[in-house]
Amino acid sequence: MTGGPIPAHLLPDTATVHEGRLAIGGVDVVELAAKYGTPLFVYDEEHLRNRCREAVAAFGDGVVYATKAFLSQGMAKLAWEEGLHLDVATGGELHVALAAGVPADRLVMHGNNKSVPELEMAISAGVGRIVLDSFDEIRRIEDLVAAGLTAPRVLVRVNPGVDAHTHEYLQTGIADSKFGFGISSGDAGAAIGAANLSPAMDLVGIHAHIGSQVFVADSYSKAIGALAPFLAEHRLDELSIGGGLGVAYVVGESAPTITEWASSVTAACREHGIEARITAEPGRSIVASAAVTLYTVGTIKDIDDIRTYVAVDGGMSDNPRPVLYGSGYEAFLPRAVGSDRTKPVRIVGKHCESGDVIVSEAMIPADTTVGDILCTPVTGAYGHSMGSNYNMVLRPPVVFVCDGEARLVIRRETFADLTNRDVVAD
Ligand code: LLP
Repeated sequence: MTGGPIPAHLLPDTATVHEGRLAIGGVDVVELAAKYGTPLFVYDEEHLRNRCREAVAAFGDGVVYATKAFLSQGMAKLAWEEGLHLDVATGGELHVALAAGVPADRLVMHGNNKSVPELEMAISAGVGRIVLDSFDEIRRIEDLVAAGLTAPRVLVRVNPGVDAHTHEYLQTGIADSKFGFGISSGDAGAAIGAANLSPAMDLVGIHAHIGSQVFVADSYSKAIGALAPFLAEHRLDELSIGGGLGVAYVVGESAPTITEWASSVTAACREHGIEARITAEPGRSIVASAAVTLYTVGTIKDIDDIRTYVAVDGGMSDNPRPVLYGSGYEAFLPRAVGSDRTKPVRIVGKHCESGDVIVSEAMIPADTTVGDILCTPVTGAYGHSMGSNYNMVLRPPVVFVCDGEARLVIRRETFADLTNRDVVAD
């Protein structure tokens, strides 16, 4: 815990302070809250573009943005404009990327249980790659191609059996996983063999994603070492090392840059004699620290000798990560960015759940009052995208700020949105 001000490295790239107040992209964020209401997601467009450019400089034409981290048509378009491909993992994500105008051949279709309609949609659209995740999926593609669809390019998702040293729910590369074909079971070899022989698909390479919020470069090296023999044996031209690079969320944390991640991956590939095209699928490391969430403080409750609860106008519906993974965040007042944060509080939301916590052990300025705009930084990944409208709380809008201008990329949900899927009997 800290008593100091919010550190600059947790704020978006263009964050500046004028007379104590936070501006992002040249726009005062307290004024944004007044204009668009709260809760509000504010993304620094330049920060997003900087990370995309860094990734392209580091990995070349092999960067595939993992849209699950944050997706809207505006974000899909931005990533594509910056030269990224897009990872879509459901028919819904595929739909949004296509609606944004991203060419289908820039899309990589993921999913451990792709349905026949999803596969049909992806293949008919002409996606660049389908990442095979099960023997059932191989059969489904064979049936679709037999029925007249064009054979797609595929990667086989191999589960390399390495521990990514992250939260149990964010591990994907250990043997006991629903994702991909395991090496130890022999499934990986069998799937690569089957895909290679099948006239219904064009096998171009293999894929592995070991987990998310990963800080240990060694985990990637181990995965690459486990995959190298398959690339060599089957003379495959492409290796996707997935995503997963961790980011710093709280004071005291630091994370490797995308450039550092790419150089350790490239070095590991070299060490294992891999000459294939290397691709990567960053999600969090592109978008997480690009955004902040703004809330309004609604109630402050002091319980003597226990704690102070500060309740804001959002909660687990705009950021379920603290509830799901026990994730930590910082909080501060954008009207007083340089203020010491000396008051320990628990920041909670407005949902009917005791577990509806945004920051379990927060430090905020002692003069925080009802009506203040409170900001949580590093909320650009897996917040809006995993949000819900639990308790019929309206999902917040998203604005992109750049060069002194704000543009709305997702509007606030309305009460009409809450009823327009209901089918009401006469
Ligand atoms: N590629 C694949 C196949 C993935 O499954 C994922 C994330 C990524 C790439 C991107 O990983 P990233 O670079 O964003 O770590 N909801 C969790 C994270 C789940 C990640 C799921 N897959 C969270 O909030 O931490």
